Amino acid sequence: MKQFISSHDVSNIPALIDQALAYKASPRKDEQLGKHKRIGCLFLNPSMRTRLSTQVAAQQLGMEAIVFNVGSEGWALEFEDGAIMNGTTVEHVKDAAPIMGQYFDVLAIRTFPSLKDREADYSEFIIRQFIKYAGIPVLSLESATLHPLQSLTDLITIKEKMNADQSISRKPKVVLTWAPHVKPLPQCVANSFAQWVNAWGHAEFVITHPKGYELHDAYTNGASIIYNQEEALKNADFIYVKNWSAYEPYGTMPEFEGDWMLTLEKLKDTNNAKVMHCLPVRRNIELSDEILDSPHSIVTHQAANRVWAAQAVISNMICK
Ligand code: CP
Repeated sequence: MKQFISSHDVSNIPALIDQALAYKASPRKDEQLGKHKRIGCLFLNPSMRTRLSTQVAAQQLGMEAIVFNVGSEGWALEFEDGAIMNGTTVEHVKDAAPIMGQYFDVLAIRTFPSLKDREADYSEFIIRQFIKYAGIPVLSLESATLHPLQSLTDLITIKEKMNADQSISRKPKVVLTWAPHVKPLPQCVANSFAQWVNAWGHAEFVITHPKGYELHDAYTNGASIIYNQEEALKNADFIYVKNWSAYEPYGTMPEFEGDWMLTLEKLKDTNNAKVMHCLPVRRNIELSDEILDSPHSIVTHQAANRVWAAQAVISNMICK
């Protein structure tokens, strides 16, 4: 695997899920695979789960993981080819990335969208500049429009819970529901979850959000879009809660009607639904205490599974 920035980089999603679950069953089974190899983890933006789970995963493969918080500790990077660098940027990605390509075997990058320039964000300009100049495999730790390690984790978690709950013999009903937030957030987790669930093809998939929060149909094609949250949640087995800002007008927070925060009352017509969130979560804004502190919530289990997703992907990037 030469890059991992979307579901399109994976030829067999069920096999990758099984590989991750095999690592969960036997975390050190490939501890020689990464011997004498290094992964560089570049963070242009903050992280907790992605940063720690990627380091743990790499170490379990016998690799050395080096973290560089570029956004807060590195030189300000320039990404525009041909730029006259007379402003605040100090080093061009064209110079920095090939050096990292010499230090590491895999380059992992987190880079959030601007939420101002939709064309640049949706072209994945920054991570593609690293791919262009690094000369080694590039792994997304969340980019402008997608968060593939999170989405792989989410499918692993659904598959694992399905295996444990023999009462669901049909395709599970998975509902992605929009939730409120105090500030505009990227669309990447929602885009990515939709892309991966659709590519996986093993769920009845519904997306619910207020009018004005439509995601790009490149990701949602295959899902049913239902604007009425109560109707969408009926018979749900899994509910994925996430806020995102509008695609059009880009990065805005259009007014919406109704109360979109999930509560226990809203779960009454579900199939005893399990509730997921990528975290971090703003309690009692995006998701209520009563859900997060109830047996419905599987967010900790989900976050723990980040290790196995990262381990499966990194192993495919370093194997011959
Ligand atoms: N879900 C997730 O990516 O968490 P972090 O931002 O803490 O890495």
